[in-house]
Amino acid sequence: MCGIVGYVGSKVPGSVLVEGLKRLEYRGYDSAGVAIFDNGGIKICRCEGKIADLEKRLVDEHFDGSIGIGHTRWATHGRPSETNAHPHYYEGIAVVHNGIIENYLELKTMMIEEGGVFSSETDSEVLSHLIARSIRKGLSFEDAVRESISMVRGSYAIAVLCEKDPTRIIAARNESPLILGVGENENYVASDIPAILSHTRKMLFLDDGEIAVLDRDAYRIQTLDGEAVEREPKHISWDPIMAEKGGYKHFMLKEIFEQPRAIIDTLRGRIVEDTGDVFLDGVTLDEETLKRINRIYVIACGTSYYAGLVGKFMIEELSHIPVEVDLASEFRYRDPLADENSLIVLISQSGETADTLAAMRQGREKGAKLLSICNVVESTLARDCDHVLYTHAGPEIGVASTKAFTCQMTALLLLAMYLGRTRGDLEADRAKELMQHVVQVPGYVEDVLERAEEIREIAEFYADAADFLYLGRGINYPIALEGALKLKEISYIHAEGYPAGEMKHGPIALIDEVMPVVTLVPRDSVYEKILSNIEEVKARKGQVIAVAEDDDREIAERADHIIKVPHADTILTPFILVIPLQLFAYYVADFKGTDVDQPRNLAKSVTVE
Ligand code: AGP
Repeated sequence: MCGIVGYVGSKVPGSVLVEGLKRLEYRGYDSAGVAIFDNGGIKICRCEGKIADLEKRLVDEHFDGSIGIGHTRWATHGRPSETNAHPHYYEGIAVVHNGIIENYLELKTMMIEEGGVFSSETDSEVLSHLIARSIRKGLSFEDAVRESISMVRGSYAIAVLCEKDPTRIIAARNESPLILGVGENENYVASDIPAILSHTRKMLFLDDGEIAVLDRDAYRIQTLDGEAVEREPKHISWDPIMAEKGGYKHFMLKEIFEQPRAIIDTLRGRIVEDTGDVFLDGVTLDEETLKRINRIYVIACGTSYYAGLVGKFMIEELSHIPVEVDLASEFRYRDPLADENSLIVLISQSGETADTLAAMRQGREKGAKLLSICNVVESTLARDCDHVLYTHAGPEIGVASTKAFTCQMTALLLLAMYLGRTRGDLEADRAKELMQHVVQVPGYVEDVLERAEEIREIAEFYADAADFLYLGRGINYPIALEGALKLKEISYIHAEGYPAGEMKHGPIALIDEVMPVVTLVPRDSVYEKILSNIEEVKARKGQVIAVAEDDDREIAERADHIIKVPHADTILTPFILVIPLQLFAYYVADFKGTDVDQPRNLAKSVTVE
């Protein structure tokens, strides 16, 4: 999510670090900093805002060392500010970190009791404290890093400097990417290829549970248990633009493929797999208040609104609280019946959508409790609501929302389980059973992504169609809406999403031999009904593209094209069914040659009415 770069060699480290950080800046980071050796000690320079601001500050700084680490932050724990910016320094240790340390509160409390003094609100700061603590106990730099990371739970890519061992950088990874760049008498470490591509094309990719020690003229990789890892560097032939997109043609495609990781990050630290319990950081509604809530309003725009429609099914099923879902642009101008016993859930990737902010103010006037589901930390919506549940999708660059959507559904599912358990409507056994399925969702998504090529071929077949109809039922009706929205946003093809049962009340008139109908066919309680809807389309010579489960044999004789997906518990099917629709829209748009990442007339964040 954030960006890391580190350098050991004979160049001016400040310039190498700033240049590397600039290459990652297009992702919209909120603060940055570097730690560089000077006069035997580590000097830190950090600031909130753009890399240009950091660069200005560095003009007046002097460093005599030739080793340093840098970081651009995209806030997850703690607002964007200078004190929350990395590197974090403590007693001779400087650390930059990407990822989420799940047990940071526990570790922080332990170290405060031991006399540690913390200066930031981040989870990352525990790392500098832990490593300094191990050094105090007499461990070498390398062993101190090893001991410290064995104490943390969660994901990390780190680069560390140590005043007692001033010639090297130690780096480590677990579930967050980290790359070593190999040069002539110099070495690099980075979270992303573009950060170091202008210096070297010889790169090594660390695996989970590996530690790297980088000196100027050598590097070595070990496992956490100290076993040496032999790995040859790879030659990276990407051009700089391709590198920014991680080798994908567009950010949208990269973000579609990031979804398994983004869902894991949104679940991380909030669930207990063995019991089905859910903990929501940032939500402090007490049991008493939760039990008084008699209605939930879910308010959002666009794709976030469709996530809200899925959330209605989840919340009503698991917590039995009635849910109304409203478009923010409508809610703000009506006189809703919300009151102090209502919970208003406002969903927004950006947290800056003008209509959603206006709806929040309307809800505040009514005295309702306000909870936001946001991706951008410290956005206006996140700050101004009483409670916030962050999605950890990471920066979303493509205008068409993909990973933010699946993470919003993840957050809504967690909220639904949390409400159900707290109010007693969700039995412990069902929660436990459901959670065992929930943790498999990233794997199911991965599985669908592996079928991208088949989806690309189907997209090529239909790329010249002028109109599309998308049909779904129940919890997947909003997925039909989202599939149609994705297609029209980026390919400019007219598409409509419909609840399948409504087809005969109007849209069936549109069906003829040139009308493709994308139909969502999970084996749920309305499976037979949707098969009948498919028959109705076929009887009028429409072309059916069915998204159906792997072992569904009945669909074969009814559909013209089938996209197979794994089977899942009904409440989890939206996560799986939306992926082929995102890929389908992407490939159709790519065949048409549109500007996929920045479609005409659209803005990533609609901050005006
Ligand atoms: C989705 O692909 C969109 N570009 C758009 O509908 C978006 O979801 C909507 O504008 C809401 O944005 P928000 O989540 O940042 O509030």
